[in-house]
Amino acid sequence: MKDILEELEGRRTAARAGGGERRVQAQHAKGKLTARERIELLLDEGSFEEFDMFVAHRCTDFGMEKDRPAGDGVVTGWGTINGRQVYVFSQDFTVMGGSVSETHGAKICKIMDMAMQNGAPVIGINDSGGARIQEGVASLAAYGEVFQRNIEASGVVPQISLIMGPCAGGAVYSPAMTDFIFMVKDSSYMFVTGPDVVKTVTNEVVTAEELGGASTHTRKSSVADGAFENDVEALAEIRRLFDFLPLNNRQKAPVRPFFDDPARIESSLDTLVPDNPNQPYDMKELITKIADEGDFFEVQKDYAANIIIGFIRLEGQTVGVVANQPMVLAGCLDIDASRKAARFVRFCDAFEIPILTFVDVPGFLPGTGQEYGGVIKHGAKLLFAYGEATVPKVTVLTRKTYGGAYVVMASKHLKADFNYAWPTAEVAVMGAKGAVEILYRSELGEPEKIAARVKDYEDRFANPFVAAEKGFIDEVIMPHSTRRRVARAFAALRGKKAAMPWKKHDNIPL
Ligand code: HXC
Repeated sequence: MKDILEELEGRRTAARAGGGERRVQAQHAKGKLTARERIELLLDEGSFEEFDMFVAHRCTDFGMEKDRPAGDGVVTGWGTINGRQVYVFSQDFTVMGGSVSETHGAKICKIMDMAMQNGAPVIGINDSGGARIQEGVASLAAYGEVFQRNIEASGVVPQISLIMGPCAGGAVYSPAMTDFIFMVKDSSYMFVTGPDVVKTVTNEVVTAEELGGASTHTRKSSVADGAFENDVEALAEIRRLFDFLPLNNRQKAPVRPFFDDPARIESSLDTLVPDNPNQPYDMKELITKIADEGDFFEVQKDYAANIIIGFIRLEGQTVGVVANQPMVLAGCLDIDASRKAARFVRFCDAFEIPILTFVDVPGFLPGTGQEYGGVIKHGAKLLFAYGEATVPKVTVLTRKTYGGAYVVMASKHLKADFNYAWPTAEVAVMGAKGAVEILYRSELGEPEKIAARVKDYEDRFANPFVAAEKGFIDEVIMPHSTRRRVARAFAALRGKKAAMPWKKHDNIPL
């Protein structure tokens, strides 16, 4: 008996050693933690239960039968984050570069299947040289099996990807199908074809970092939802995000203890909107001032900053926030902002997270760049996403909301439940100057007349009351009481039940 216990301990020690001391040191020298160290930081202390520690590959080509490391380059299992269950896989770059073999893929599939069966999220830590070259098509098949599970799990359990090393070729498509992708600055990259192939095919000379580093994917491509300074920060922030999310699509997000009066008055909001309509203000100030304890987990903050998305809590309950940002492009909607917000709205709806929308939008960004880029289809994504969302929807107009953008931004017409406006709000087809220039074209040479027309238009339409008279605004509220009004609105909607007509699935304009 003693011998067998010792053998088990010996095997465990060997498996935990991964690719050995030299490779672990090389990993640390790159500023990266090992697969197991990452899991330790991600999960509650002592909560990790490992699966398949002794799984080894079955490849016999290229002398591979002589090198069969226990675990096969990926650590898998489940544990808890602040007491709630999560399934995890963490690729071990110290073992054959974390490359994906048939058995490596099967280990990932096993925990994904268990996550689905038990209704718990999956967090994947990616650090891999891609398909195990010695295994050929068996490796591609393994990826395919993972992809299919990503698709089936989408909208059923939250899936989060952390990119903490290389992630290249078709391997990128597994993270791409998960709900959130986070990267680590300077030590992770993602691309479909690497710099060498790019040079051969297009003659472009580009580094791995330029092509697919964290900065590229958080600022240019929007593939990644955020980037962190190092592994430790990334893992801590994922724990923070996890706390906002439900375990699956049949459960509500957790209610956290809160120490912030829901009726808290925030007098500074009464002067947030400047007197000059052309002067911007920071919409993030409003978000943090109404959130429980000012806690806001922002997603995609470096991309399409003219719209803000992220999670807050009100009375301890998760709320997804979408808000125009007047500080960037005057808060207009464009292709990037529409895509960014649409995906977020759909995530919230899929996981029963109520949506709070703050609106200050001059309209859609004009220009050939936008039209040729398909702003019609992309703008329609956000419209579609809001219209199909059946979760509680509360909207607050802070300032202007014009034209199509008014309808798109969670208006009453898209079945928003509570539509509030600040007294500074104005709902119109367009701004007064633009309207007058169209209506009184013949008077354009007479500045005084035009000024009087503009004033007249402003007096009539530059307020929330025309829309309120029609019932499109439920109530004009004081800015300082926004937190109380919004918190009460969501409280009133806790029992909301709404459904779309039966269909196999919709056909959102992709
Ligand atoms: C087998 C691999 C491997 C792979 C790395 N290794 N990638 N083994 N299959 N794909 C091994 C190396 O042999 C080495 O083993 C160890 O991992 C570390 O690799 P290094 O090259 O020493 O590390 P580094 O210098 O940091 O470079 C990392 C790297 C490079 C940039 C990822 O290893 C690389 O270019 N690898 C090949 C990448 C690739 O072409 N993959 C296939 C992509 S196609 P030792 O024993 O020396 O430690 C693909 C398709 C997926 O993935 C399709 C899905 C549908």
